[in-house]
Amino acid sequence: MLGSFCLSFPDKFVFNSPIAPKQRWARSMKVLIPAAKIQSRVVELALQIANDYQDRPVTIIGVLTGSLIFLADLVRHLNLHLRIGFIQASSYRGATTSPGELKVGPELLPDVRGRHILLLDDILDTGQTLNRLVQHMQTLGVASLRTGVLLRKQGRQQVHIEPDYTGFDIPDAFVVGYGLDYNDEYRHLPYVAILNDAQ
Ligand code: IMP
Ligand code: MG
Repeated sequence: MLGSFCLSFPDKFVFNSPIAPKQRWARSMKVLIPAAKIQSRVVELALQIANDYQDRPVTIIGVLTGSLIFLADLVRHLNLHLRIGFIQASSYRGATTSPGELKVGPELLPDVRGRHILLLDDILDTGQTLNRLVQHMQTLGVASLRTGVLLRKQGRQQVHIEPDYTGFDIPDAFVVGYGLDYNDEYRHLPYVAILNDAQ
């Protein structure tokens, strides 16, 4: 199987493996969290989540698109009564709206009323996205609401929000891989890497 093939080798191998496009990015990236380390942390988080919810059915809502890989790996370790849904969040950057203003796209959201919700995002940076989504979910009559992020950037938070589950604290750098993108690229990388020349 391709996945386990990749994971059984050091990240340097994955980096050079024929399954990745040519190494046009290799010079500008540095692996921050190797694939194997992410996988073992995801298992730890899953155990913690399973222990917290136990017999309560949970609906995991992934914030598109960055949470996709994290969510997909996490749920396969969760032995729980489980539903999955998604929500979109995008920042307006147009001339008519202030930079960073967030638009919530609830079209893919299942019925969450009366349900125990775990909201998952890829990264907590300023905290605006998660904070705004928490506010949105709270208007929908959920039974309970928790949050989880794979990464939390140190020294960047503008709003106080403490995720219930955090994979890794990372330094203030622009990272890609394992769902995180730069111009919608690099989401498929099995590790998290610092993109040196991100602008
Ligand atoms: P926040 O609203 O500032 O917390 O930003 C959260 C969103 O910004 C995440 O869901 C990501 O989509 C994006 N983001 C923040 N930092 C990074 C990064 O280092 N790499 C890729 N995306 C990022
Ligand atoms: Mg995102």
